[in-house]
Amino acid sequence: MIIIHLFHKHLERQVLYLERQLRALERSFSKYKKVTLFPNGRIVGEKVFVTSGYQGDFISVKQMCSQACGKLASPQDSAENSAVQQIAAVYTKKVFLGINDIQMEGRFRYWNVQVIIYSNWAPREPNNDRGNEDCVEIYPNGFWNDQNCREKRLIVCEF
Ligand code: GAL
Ligand code: CA
Repeated sequence: MIIIHLFHKHLERQVLYLERQLRALERSFSKYKKVTLFPNGRIVGEKVFVTSGYQGDFISVKQMCSQACGKLASPQDSAENSAVQQIAAVYTKKVFLGINDIQMEGRFRYWNVQVIIYSNWAPREPNNDRGNEDCVEIYPNGFWNDQNCREKRLIVCEF
């Protein structure tokens, strides 16, 4: 009986200790997130959007994201769109999204060939200007434009 009681007390102390450790970890993690995401990143749900500040054509920014084990930003709702928009606004630069219609004109798809489920086209876009706009950029105001994939745009990856 006494041994069981002692063991119970021991477990109680262990649990209290772990609870304190977990709270301390949560506090420091939440601070660490703020520090690392300032001013280049945004969190929406489980997605993290972040820029390195570099610019490149579509192929190079796509490669940079995949080398970092991420993907080019592909906002799938208005909350995600506004996160990417905010990063574009911090840099006052247009950003390439991970969306293109290279495979079939007018059918915009994500990197994994799924047809897009959300869009935020600017008025009169996409217009495939000069028959040569298969990539998608987002303006610092949040609206999208189809753009030539060889243009250089700010990189934003999602993780
Ligand atoms: C530009 C845009 C082009 C094309 C053009 C139409 O601002 O970059 O993709 O849409 O407007 O006038
Ligand atoms: Ca266009």
